Amino acid sequence: MHLPEVDRIRVTSIVDNFVDNLLRDQGPAKRRPRQAKSYERCLCAEHGLAECIESQAGGETFPLLFDFGATPLVYLHNLGLLLDDYRIDLAAIRTLVLSHGHWDHYGGLLAFLREKRHSLPEDAHLYAGEDAFLARWSVAGKEGRRDMGRLDEEAIAALDVGLVRVSEPRLLADQVLISGEIARRTSYETSAPGARVERDGVDMQDDLSGEQALVYHLKGKGLVVMTACGHAGVVNTVMHAREVTGVEEVHAIIGGFHLSGAPEERIRKTVEDIAAIDPKIVVPMHCTGLETIEALSERLPSKVIYNSAGTRYELVAD
Ligand SMILES: [Fe+2]
Repeated sequence: MHLPEVDRIRVTSIVDNFVDNLLRDQGPAKRRPRQAKSYERCLCAEHGLAECIESQAGGETFPLLFDFGATPLVYLHNLGLLLDDYRIDLAAIRTLVLSHGHWDHYGGLLAFLREKRHSLPEDAHLYAGEDAFLARWSVAGKEGRRDMGRLDEEAIAALDVGLVRVSEPRLLADQVLISGEIARRTSYETSAPGARVERDGVDMQDDLSGEQALVYHLKGKGLVVMTACGHAGVVNTVMHAREVTGVEEVHAIIGGFHLSGAPEERIRKTVEDIAAIDPKIVVPMHCTGLETIEALSERLPSKVIYNSAGTRYELVAD
């Protein structure tokens, strides 16, 4: 599939597991300007992910919201501050993308729509994978069955947001590709054994096959691959992006790599394969885990950028 090039991509981190007000600007990463001493202006961290991504091609800007944090409290708080800081206008955002049906990505969505639906364009749409609205739980050791919740599809429809199911790669506004389902190719990026999902009344292993990544093609630089939780594996996700677009060069990998608590061997292989992909920028977020961030930083010292909620990445074409 031909993925047209864009001139500029701005990624604003709305919710992440990390907040660090003292980080320096680094390459494309511009930190949130220092704030007056007021707790009301502080961003919060939580185990979740949310971003606003604005791309630009030929003078056309295409903004979207990618995931919605874990809790209404943090998502609405951070979003309100950052929309204000960066003068992002909700009236221009008709595209919402949910990567997958886990609470740490959809947690703020319904509260956001209840509070802000009137600010979005009338034809606002939510794009999500085929399995985003299924009931999920996990089974682990002595803890037994743990409810992972379920996003209420009818509640979204009732808030007058169009729902688009995605299973195949899909181009939006001639600027960004929603990945479609990501093939599992590497031997080591396997599904979590205790993850369960209910499909058509049957309890089964949950491989989160419907998780969506976003892919941009930055002019003269290559692909920008945005993972959310990376359940398919970050290396599988990059391989998929390359295969679908036919573009080999990878400029940036940004997002959650889901390696917190992963076996050492898997972390080592992932880091080596990312090094072989040779991106210019790697921004590990959310569920990547400190061990993997440390391993990536050691292996690719000039390429890794630490994220904090509030950081804005300005990726510009050559
Ligand atoms: Fe996640």
